[in-house]
Amino acid sequence: MSELVRFGVSLEKTLLDRFDVLIREKQYTNRSEALRDLIRRELVHREWQEGKDVAGAITLIYDHHKRDVMSKVTDTQHAFQEAIISTQHIHLDHHNCLEIVAARGKAEEVQKLADALRSIKGVRHATLSMSSTGREIE
Ligand code: NI
Repeated sequence: MSELVRFGVSLEKTLLDRFDVLIREKQYTNRSEALRDLIRRELVHREWQEGKDVAGAITLIYDHHKRDVMSKVTDTQHAFQEAIISTQHIHLDHHNCLEIVAARGKAEEVQKLADALRSIKGVRHATLSMSSTGREIE
């Protein structure tokens, strides 16, 4: 673990009041923890912008009865198999499937995978949760 450093921050009272409201709403235990999270969020954003090695999760909703949708989802996952760590498939109801694809690799590749899955006809919803390998946000 890295050395802990204290530093002073000057900011407008109104801004600090709003930050404290946010901290309570988001259930942070203190300002330091909230600030750490904000900083890490920006650092992770930059990892994606700069095309670093990243990790993330793609969540898909699709109707497995729709023509070819399952085989297209599978084909796409095979095409990007180097970026995929694991896949979880949940049968939500008679029609709908929820699939969670854990991915790791170059930001551009993971983004391409998410775009390829999202654009398959029959995929009703897809999100990409852009996260980090954790190495650059210690
Ligand atoms: Ni299913």
